Amino acid sequence: MDQRNGTLPTFFTIAGISDLPALQFPIFLLVVFIYLSTLAGNIAILLLICLYRHLHTPMYFFLANLSILDISSSTITLHKILLTFVSGDKTTSLTVCLAQIYVFLSLTSDELVILTAMSYDRYVAVCNPLRYNVIINQEICALLMSVCWIWGFLICLETFLELTRLTCFQSNKINHFYCDVVPVMKISCNDTSFLEIYILIMGLIVVVVIPFLLTLISYVFIIVSIMKIRTNTGRRKAFYTCSSHLTVVILLYTTLICQYFRPVSGDTLESNKFFSFFNTVAVPILNPLIYSLKNKDVKLAFKKFRCKMQANNKQRTRQN
Ligand SMILES: *[C@@H]1O[C@H](CO)[C@@H](O)[C@H](O)[C@H]1NC(C)=O
Repeated sequence: MDQRNGTLPTFFTIAGISDLPALQFPIFLLVVFIYLSTLAGNIAILLLICLYRHLHTPMYFFLANLSILDISSSTITLHKILLTFVSGDKTTSLTVCLAQIYVFLSLTSDELVILTAMSYDRYVAVCNPLRYNVIINQEICALLMSVCWIWGFLICLETFLELTRLTCFQSNKINHFYCDVVPVMKISCNDTSFLEIYILIMGLIVVVVIPFLLTLISYVFIIVSIMKIRTNTGRRKAFYTCSSHLTVVILLYTTLICQYFRPVSGDTLESNKFFSFFNTVAVPILNPLIYSLKNKDVKLAFKKFRCKMQANNKQRTRQN
């Protein structure tokens, strides 16, 4: 509330992961490695889904959407570390910073609703396999995905607008490696209590808890229906249908809980930075990794791709 020492700076400095000069190069290398792996994994998934017709199913279209989302959000969170190392420029304007916050928050909410839509898709695949193609048709897919993408941007709009109303900052140093809400709020001397409560309620209930509950409900139905299957092979097959998705869901919600459900006080900002580094690193690499390790359709596509490379264009892709 103290407006006396505050100003509206023309630029902000992004602190980065560490101030220690000796760590800058190792961090840079690590981030380059992580970023390139994320790009490679997600682009590979996109490519395989594009190329192979047996992957032209709703689940893989959703997965492709998730890959685009992962590429975008890891670009937002990691690009500043890379650029700072190359150019030495740690600064960013308030406009760019707030735009990044908005897009990043929206993409994170999108990720959760896309996973929720995928859990509905898995629910239909397990509980109503014969009518799957009728229920999850092209129009429904397109509608679901559009709603998912728009949802996050709508939900986060108010937070963004509140942030643009901040006019007073005690410092222009953002103690983080990308523009994030909490570090920006921390250095503001405006009254941010409304924003804090709003983020807590929206962030917790609308962005996390509702998708979580919907996903949970889908899985309760899935489990009940799997239990009803008599044969072991039938059960295993039904479980296999949703195991990749379930793994991603569990890992994602676990990392979210670890990052956000801890007290936000001054001294936790440093540990928060490491947690969110882990998160921003882990989540975007997760999807391609899990889907390619656990999934025989994707493995098959990989194998086909390798064979095709080896056959050196002699043989065109076989139709499925
Ligand atoms: C995203 O999902 C929609 C609906 O299923 C699909 O039509 C679209 O191709 C997907 N996007 C990508 C990049 O695959």
